[in-house]
Amino acid sequence: MPNATFTNQLEAQLAQFRADGVYKKLNYLESPQAARVQMEGRGEVLIFSSNNYLGLSNDPAVVQAGVDGLHRFGAGTASVRFICGTVTIHRELEEALARFVGCEASMSFVSAWNANEGLTSTIVEEGDFVVSDALNHASIIDSIRLAKAITKCTTGVYRHSDLDDLVEKLKANAGARRRLIWTDGVFSMEGSIAKLPEILQIARDHDAIVIMDDSHATGVLGRTGRGTAEHCGVLGEVDIITSTLGKALGGAAGGFVAGPASLADYLTQRSRPQLFSNALPPTVAASALAAVRAVEQRPELVTTLHANAKYFREQIVEAGFKPLAGETPIIPIIVGETSAAIRMSEMLLDEGVFVTGFGFPVVPQGQARVRCQLSAAHTRDDIDQAVRAFRKVGSALGII
Ligand SMILES: Cc1ncc(COP(=O)(O)O)c(C=O)c1O
Repeated sequence: MPNATFTNQLEAQLAQFRADGVYKKLNYLESPQAARVQMEGRGEVLIFSSNNYLGLSNDPAVVQAGVDGLHRFGAGTASVRFICGTVTIHRELEEALARFVGCEASMSFVSAWNANEGLTSTIVEEGDFVVSDALNHASIIDSIRLAKAITKCTTGVYRHSDLDDLVEKLKANAGARRRLIWTDGVFSMEGSIAKLPEILQIARDHDAIVIMDDSHATGVLGRTGRGTAEHCGVLGEVDIITSTLGKALGGAAGGFVAGPASLADYLTQRSRPQLFSNALPPTVAASALAAVRAVEQRPELVTTLHANAKYFREQIVEAGFKPLAGETPIIPIIVGETSAAIRMSEMLLDEGVFVTGFGFPVVPQGQARVRCQLSAAHTRDDIDQAVRAFRKVGSALGII
């Protein structure tokens, strides 16, 4: 029997979440991720909250590559990488990813979360100073907390995209052995883009290292989808890029760290997830590799994504909403309290549009939002239908 006091405490907390209107209910899909999916108990719904930016998660070539990878390499490696757990598809994928994001080499991990955690605590040492944007993703924050606990490095946070604050923090830690600047490429809850050229200049001025998590930009930003660096015209200039395979690049799972060849080698030698945990399943690696090739061979996917994002933004503004300004396919509509965001998302689902509401602690208190995300898989009809639903729900809630 599980400890009754423990389960009673959990039940009480869950009851409180329900009472506060912040309880998250899982919606089960009975079909692959796509612009339109079959949702259990509801039938067909439009999805406007997926990271399936390029529509590749159900792309025939991506799915077939996974099937072929499974047949060729089996279910998995049954071991950590350096013992007997790596296959040639890992090397092929890592070479393709590095080339795609403009770095010399890369190392794959089972998720971007795992990549961030495996990176920071491995490269940071006592005497180093790590400074992080205030709106960085939770995986970056936790990676820095872990690095601090393990290495006793010092850390700081600069106000979101406030480069004067960044410079001040770097200057105040001029005596550090190494200074590292950690930023998202695209901030996932805002849809804003890091001021990358300026951050790179600041890093050069202060002999600092730039690490950028490009999870929402890989396959998304830049003319050919190579990310924030391509968008900003600084491809090849970022010291270290981390990203996910769980969004635009097929959407299965997995992440990677890209940078100098010596970094990839160092992570092989020292990163704890590489030393103590199994590698990416070959099936997933094969699908991700096919997704990279799809973006390289079909740049029109990226063009369509950009056009869809622009069109949706225009239509939603025309309808009377005031989304956060931006130029990414993440278009957040701020509604205030968490319960309001959840209510709006439930009403949209009743209209056949699945778009998630986010509240505290994912975003700051009082800034709950419905975060819309566009995909190359959406048609104009899909977008028009979604906008009609937004108009109806927005009017009913008195938002527009
Ligand atoms: C910026 C950022 N980094 C990392 C992650 C984690 O990605 P993964 O699902 O590969 O662990 C996410 C996912 O939401 C993200 O938005």
